[in-house]
Amino acid sequence: DGIHQEAATGALPGWERVEQLVQAAHDRYRDTDDGTVADYIPALAEADPDWFGICVADTAGGLHDVGDAAVPFSIQSISKAFVYALVCEEFGHERIGELVGVDNTGLPFNSVIALELNGGHPMNPMVNAGAIASTALMAGDTAAEKWRAVHDGLSRFAGRELAVDERVYTSESETNSRNQAIARLLQSYGRLDADPGEIVDVYTRQCSLLVTAHDLAVMGATLADGGVNPVTGDRVVSADVSRDTLAVLAANGLYERSGEWLFQIGLPAKSGVSGGIVSIAPGKGAIGTFSPPLDAAGNSVRGERATAYLSKTLGLNLF
Ligand code: DON
Repeated sequence: DGIHQEAATGALPGWERVEQLVQAAHDRYRDTDDGTVADYIPALAEADPDWFGICVADTAGGLHDVGDAAVPFSIQSISKAFVYALVCEEFGHERIGELVGVDNTGLPFNSVIALELNGGHPMNPMVNAGAIASTALMAGDTAAEKWRAVHDGLSRFAGRELAVDERVYTSESETNSRNQAIARLLQSYGRLDADPGEIVDVYTRQCSLLVTAHDLAVMGATLADGGVNPVTGDRVVSADVSRDTLAVLAANGLYERSGEWLFQIGLPAKSGVSGGIVSIAPGKGAIGTFSPPLDAAGNSVRGERATAYLSKTLGLNLF
């Protein structure tokens, strides 16, 4: 691609340089027309394939938005990263590590075979099985309390109260039989200590929370900043939990393509089927991107290319 990173640098470049590079990333990939908008959740198919937003947030609270960085979209799988951080904060990573795991399945995010092959162990919190198991572990005795904890926790990561996209929630609720099957299978292995239907409902609501590329950058920068939201100053999780979460994202955030992502981009990241990606540079900041057309593994094409460009030009690749 002709873009080179000299060496990992200590800090982000100066303000104006970051502004230029974020704009350059947008200019470079705006006209890319590869990829397909997800339609297995019917409401997602209504997204405009031209939407493309980027935001870079630094750990001092600086924010650089370009393009459709304020367009709201349902967070989908990106929520899994933050719910994992919240359950680790509550119970400690050892317990969650035992129950949910940290290793890649090498199989697609909604694989049932992966669960069967591993004796019902979800393997990691970024595949649907591990995410549903993690949502079930959220604080609260009832599904309503768990939902409140998810909603409150994700809103604190974003630094504002997030709303549910009711259209996406209803659409996914009507079509999520595979997730219901995964939850029942977890229950059959004694790995779901709650009502499967109710937990899948909380998980579906969680996936329907509306965010923007700007929100994703702030949420990611909170993990980059050791758990403190750099805009609000709110400590959402501990520094240890932030590090645990980033390790899990490095191994699993892009599903079976996580190795390739780490090889090319060198940052822990999480993608979602509505077209968002958040990538985190520990101690420095985060990149939030949004563009609906996806590649075959379910990752945003423009988002991946823009993040690769910014990782190199901003000197963020960890390796
Ligand atoms: O459970 C699902 O299938 C969706 N709510 C989320 C999937 C997702 O975002 C996978 N990401 N690439």
